[in-house]
Amino acid sequence: MSKRLSETYVHGYHPRENERLQDQAGTLVDLLHCDTAYTGGSTVLEAGCGVGAQTVTLAQRSPDARFTSIDISADSITEAKRRVDAAGLTNVEFRQADIFALPFDAESFDHVFVCFVLEHLSRPVGALAILSRLLKPGGTITVIEGDHGSTYFHPDSPAAHAAIKCQVELQREAGGNALIGRQLYPLMVEAGFDAVRVSPRMVYVDSSRPELVDGFTRKTFTAMIEGIRDSAIARGLIEPESFDAGVRDLHRTTEADGVFCYTFFKGVATKE
Ligand SMILES: C[S@@+](CC[C@H](N)C(=O)[O-])C[C@H]1O[C@@H](n2cnc3c(N)ncnc32)[C@H](O)[C@@H]1O
Repeated sequence: MSKRLSETYVHGYHPRENERLQDQAGTLVDLLHCDTAYTGGSTVLEAGCGVGAQTVTLAQRSPDARFTSIDISADSITEAKRRVDAAGLTNVEFRQADIFALPFDAESFDHVFVCFVLEHLSRPVGALAILSRLLKPGGTITVIEGDHGSTYFHPDSPAAHAAIKCQVELQREAGGNALIGRQLYPLMVEAGFDAVRVSPRMVYVDSSRPELVDGFTRKTFTAMIEGIRDSAIARGLIEPESFDAGVRDLHRTTEADGVFCYTFFKGVATKE
């Protein structure tokens, strides 16, 4: 299996990161989930549920489906369970488990859902192949990933791009790939899935959309970059002044004349 994630997970597990994942999920619900709903009685495996940021939406949108949500982090599972309970949902069961050593029989699930997880794995195709084995024939997999190379903004800023590049590099060093969104189609095909369809989901933010300025540009993307400051400097990837200038310039895009763009990729496929 891959290195233990608790040692390598680039975003970490602290409370501010949990809030960031929650802000991200809340802001992007329609963009990412509008075309995902599971029929009553179907069984869905959510692999890498984290603190439950997607779990609550999934379970609310498909109230009669039964979800099994797993994550390698016991603390994240505890928090996810708390959130699902607080939302009054009863159709989710949680288990701590590693995607590379899952405690389920082959062909146990009708559907699999994976969001923002492959980007952290050194063997994404291996993970997809394992998840495929757990699907019943005719079942579907849905995978959502970002791609930090899809980030562009106004005013443009070499310092901001340099700070973002630090995140890409740290994730690469941890065995992951922050540019994985663009590879979703070939990865899913390589893992053996059929009828793979990938659609880009672009987040476009200007000051006429204050909820996205705050929820996405500020509290999701820029917060993520701010979170790697110490690691990037400690690794010698960038000087503190340059990093801070980059973060300042990302905040600058949230002003009245600023614009920020990012693209997620959503892949849906079936198992023959
Ligand atoms: C960025 S978070 C995404 C969480 C959630 N899917 C969301 O969209 O908010 C990535 C999650 O993948 C989990 N993860 C990483 N490697 C894993 C593995 N091998 N098995 C299970 N979970 C894993 C991490 O613990 C973390 O909670």
